Amino acid sequence: MVPHILVTGGAGYIGSHTVRVLLQEGFAVTVLDDLSTGHLDAIPEGARAAIGDLRDAAFVARTLAERPVSGVLHFAGAIQVGESTREPLAYWDRNVHASRVLLLAMRDADVQHIVFSSTAAVYGTPERTPIPEGAEKRPESPYGETKWAVEQMLAAASRAHGLRYAALRYFNAAGADPGLGERHHPETHLIPLAIDAALGRIGPLTVFGTDWPTPDGTCIRDYVHVHDLARAHVLALSHLQRSGENLAANLGAGVGTSVQEVLREVERATGRPVPHAVGPRRAGDPERLVADIARARTVLGFVPEHGLARIVDDAVASRVEARA
Ligand code: UFG
Repeated sequence: MVPHILVTGGAGYIGSHTVRVLLQEGFAVTVLDDLSTGHLDAIPEGARAAIGDLRDAAFVARTLAERPVSGVLHFAGAIQVGESTREPLAYWDRNVHASRVLLLAMRDADVQHIVFSSTAAVYGTPERTPIPEGAEKRPESPYGETKWAVEQMLAAASRAHGLRYAALRYFNAAGADPGLGERHHPETHLIPLAIDAALGRIGPLTVFGTDWPTPDGTCIRDYVHVHDLARAHVLALSHLQRSGENLAANLGAGVGTSVQEVLREVERATGRPVPHAVGPRRAGDPERLVADIARARTVLGFVPEHGLARIVDDAVASRVEARA
């Protein structure tokens, strides 16, 4: 029988890319999404759509009962750091409470495997980079706090109920696969904003500080292609099925890139300058976030295939396509 996977948030950016890879790998997929930030037309053809709220326990139980689900990929959640500081209770509701409803429904339906979308934000400002998974967890926003809380809830549910989980801590997801893309409202991420600025669709980009203690004075991040992230979820699912061992793993490229370097790459890919102005530092930005990806490499066999040039080329193609 074809294994059936439930994907929460499968109408979103990383979720929709992963659904497509799952379908290509021969899985059957049901997407559970409330379309609050996702898009119906982003759900790849071939997946079933169950549109509703993850916090609705009866709806989640019904959805799990409709098919014999062998695993859950849990992407659904709220992801904006700034918004989370203004609306912390909404983040505890949409990230923590919703995950609790899902875990209860999984327990009742005897679904044992879950891959959870966590984040580098669980580490806060790290003492050193690259960051290993064992580094201290000092999240600096309700966004990071709620993601870390869900990781702890997964660990407790695993001890008590035998659930098995992989918590994947994403660094900076970027790029796109053909026909899919990044559609955040509002868009706050560097690469799409820099592309839109180069294409004249928005005004000049603000670079948040050029006085950081880094070689060119701008912040350093670890950009990882969304297709590589998507593949990692399939690896994590088979890891759970194979070994049954819980896992927390960083997912990045393991390479640091500065804001300046990103802008140069966008200029190369678009053939146009990126109009920009230097602004003050953005509150809560750590100067340098780079993943140590040794664990994902060793345990999952994860090897990022696409570097920054491909990430930016694909992001440009998807933004041009989205307007065509
Ligand atoms: N940046 C700018 N100008 C902008 C937007 C971003 O200079 O208009 C800079 C930021 O200061 C940062 C870098 O570009 O140095 C990347 O910023 P993004 O907003 O694209 O991404 P973040 O690193 O802030 O956030 C990412 C994820 C979050 C996650 C966080 C973990 O998108 O979900 O990493 O710390 F929480």
